[in-house]
Formats: sequence, structure tokens, C-alpha cells
Amino acid sequence: MSAAISSIPVKAARKKSKRRSVTEPDLSYPQPVIQNGAVLPFDRERAYSPINAPVAFQPSEQRILPLGNQIYAGDTIATLQGFEDNSFDACITDPPYNIARGNKKGMTWAFSNHVTMHEKWDAYSTDDYERFTAAWMSEVCRVVKPNGNIFIFGSYHNIYTVGAIATRMEMKILNSIIWAKPNAQPNITCRMFTESTEQLVWICNNHFKKASKWTYNYAHMKALNGGKQMRNYWEIPLTPKSEKTEGKHPAQKPLALMERIVLAGTHPGDRVLDCFAGSGSTLLACDKLDRRWIGIERDDNYCDLAYRRIDRERQQRRLLPVNT
Ligand SMILES: C[S@@+](CC[C@H](N)C(=O)[O-])C[C@H]1O[C@@H](n2cnc3c(N)ncnc32)[C@H](O)[C@@H]1O
Repeated sequence: MSAAISSIPVKAARKKSKRRSVTEPDLSYPQPVIQNGAVLPFDRERAYSPINAPVAFQPSEQRILPLGNQIYAGDTIATLQGFEDNSFDACITDPPYNIARGNKKGMTWAFSNHVTMHEKWDAYSTDDYERFTAAWMSEVCRVVKPNGNIFIFGSYHNIYTVGAIATRMEMKILNSIIWAKPNAQPNITCRMFTESTEQLVWICNNHFKKASKWTYNYAHMKALNGGKQMRNYWEIPLTPKSEKTEGKHPAQKPLALMERIVLAGTHPGDRVLDCFAGSGSTLLACDKLDRRWIGIERDDNYCDLAYRRIDRERQQRRLLPVNT
């Protein structure tokens, strides 16, 4: 294990201290806008470009309980630092996987529209990625209530880092779930197996010896699985085109997958956090299933995409749009 992981302060995340995070926030991205001690939600009328000047955020100065059904535009660590302890019942999130190759052009498959990820937000050095992951996971543990559920997505590129950090923090890992993609992209090199799964680590936000009474809607899951116990192997196709009508995100998760997680691990009315909201798949699933949602996303275009998706789905249900 690298020095970066072994230097994570064990149990630090569960202390209600005003401890600063392991890394400083990245100020080159839009920062949360603070007014009268409150973090302002994403403003849909704001121009995308040029981005508002970054606002210096003073961690632990005036923490707030974020309102439900909002997306905060900004760096996740800085934004989380502005939230009160125990603000959420659960966190379901899909962080950068550290797959991207910076600005290098990836290989493409001649017979599909597959393009290798080269998003800037997904490219870290190994040490930086470990520090970044430890920092946001520590904040998530602080803002989620004790024994609240934390679900974190990953692939083989990052899931071992996430698992090692959770173990180092002595948290209770309940399951790892395999999302199997029956229509996965073919392997263009033909030198290894077709990568057709992603993982989801399910953590109970407590010390592994103290964890208790986490939410698991056993009956719902059993009903969803034709009356048999739900297994931790879920076959769900890749995000269909019908879910991309409002725009594209390179890592958009299928709604069926997100709805299953929301149904399994939260109750109606729960406050659910997604601190890497992207196109808003977690938020949309929560909205549909009557959970309150709070997203954090640093790319304004994705914030807007997420709101558009939620509003469109609300229109179909003849509900009012989000910010009315
Ligand atoms: C893997 S994607 C999430 C995709 C999402 N699950 C969906 O279905 O659309 C990760 C997202 O986190 C955002 N992101 C990356 N680093 C961030 C940071 N430090 N703070 C806030 N957002 C960040 C990226 O812009 C990207 O949209």
C-alpha cells in the first residue's frame, strides 16, 4: 500500500471535529457561492462562460444543512466542507475512476461509436487519486448520519483504492455489488477479456464493530427479483439512448441501476447525497422515488443537464419543475 493511503487518519472521518481535509480544494473550478452563511444552489440562469470568479471557501466557518432537491455547482470537497455533520441519510455516488489518459487520444473501435475516456476530471496520478478519494470519503462520512448507507461506484481501476480506504477507516463494508452489462463494448485489442462489469461498494457509515440498523429494503428487493432473495450480481444493460435525449455524459449510469440502489438503501423522504452528480442519474432516481436529493457537480453543463433530465421526467409526470 502506498504512503498516501497509509497516512489517512484512521477514524478521523467519524470524529465530529473541525478537521481540515487531506487535500486543499481545487480552486481552478467553480467554487460554491456563499451568501449570508449559506451555500447558494446552482443557478440555472447563470451564463456558462466565463465561469464566475472562484469564491474562497473557509472550511468549517459556517456550516449549513443543505436544502433538498438542489445541485451545488463546485468542487465536491470544498462544498462538502460547508455542510453540517449528519446532513444526509445516505450517499450514492459515482466518483472519477481515474481511467482517463489526460489529453492523449484514446483508441477507438471502428465498428462502434465507443471513444476511450479522456476527460480531464478523470485523470490523476496514483498518489493524487488516493489523497483525493480519502479526502472526499472522509467528508462524506462526516455529513452522512451514523449507520447511514454509502454506495460508491468503481471499476477495477479505482475500486480497490476505495475499498482500501474504507478498510483503513475501519468502516463496515456490507457488500460489493457487481453491475454486469449484457451489451458491453467489445474489447478492441483482442488481448484480454471484454470488460463488462463495474462494482459498487456498499458501506455502513460506522465502525465495523458498531455498525447496526442500516437500511436494507429486503422485501422490495425480493419482490424485484421475482420472489427470490436479491443477489449481488445485477444484469442491467448500458444506459439506453432514450435516457440521453437531454444531452450526453460520458459516464451516465442507467436509471434502472440507480433506481434499484435507491430502492434498496433508502426510504421515501430520505435526504440522499450524490457528491459527483454528473448528468444527475442518482438525483433523477431519487426524485422519481420520492427521496430528497442533493447533488454536487463542478461542471455547469452537467448541472444543467441534470436539471433538464429531472424537469423533463417531472413534465411527464405532470409535476412542477424543480426550481419553482
Ligand atoms: C463518473 S461521473 C458521474 C456520472 C453520473 N453517475 C451520471 O450518471 O451521470 C463523475 C462526475 O464528477 C464530476 N467531478 C469530478 N471531480 C469533481 C470534483 N472534484 N468536484 C465536483 N465534481 C467533480 C465530473 O464532472 C463528472 O461529471
